[in-house]
Amino acid sequence: MKALILYDSYFGNTEKVAQAIADAFAPRAEVTLARVKPYSPEQLEGVNLLVLGSPTRGFRPSEATQAFLNALPAGSLEGIHAAAFDTRVDPQRIDSKMLKFMAKTFGNADKPMLTALEKKGARIVSTGQGFIVLGSEGPLLDGELERAAAWAATLL
Ligand SMILES: Cc1cc2nc3c(=O)[nH]c(=O)nc-3n(C[C@H](O)[C@H](O)[C@H](O)COP(=O)(O)O)c2cc1C
Repeated sequence: MKALILYDSYFGNTEKVAQAIADAFAPRAEVTLARVKPYSPEQLEGVNLLVLGSPTRGFRPSEATQAFLNALPAGSLEGIHAAAFDTRVDPQRIDSKMLKFMAKTFGNADKPMLTALEKKGARIVSTGQGFIVLGSEGPLLDGELERAAAWAATLL
């Protein structure tokens, strides 16, 4: 089993979640953990499971994540299982009513990532996951890294 975890991160929170997932995979898979960068076909060679992680920025995946997804050729994920997670603030903890409404209405990065991965041919193996940060720069809510590890175990 070859697993590739690609993530983007501005303040290190999504990176920590990605690392927790990599650690959970490590005993049972050959794991590559890397920051998302422009698509190159070699990256996906032999990969069975792709996990993509992004901070939610403006209700969407980060720019680098979107660029990666857009550049994936049609069908390039055929035969690859895929899952996606984001980091996000908890709408219940947002003070502004307007922002709370927008967060609930427009959603997070996980679903657009899953839609794009599926469109490029991947078989989606889990619902999207969101891990909570307590402010834009973090830290992660207590217990989120453990939750990420538990989720990762369900993907293998
Ligand atoms: C410009 C900007 C836009 C953001 N937009 C959202 C958003 O739409 N929804 C949300 O839940 N969090 C939003 N956040 C909070 C980010 O999700 C948070 O910074 C991120 O999860 C931290 O992960 P990182 O440390 O890996 O960058 C935003 C933060 C910034 C700085």
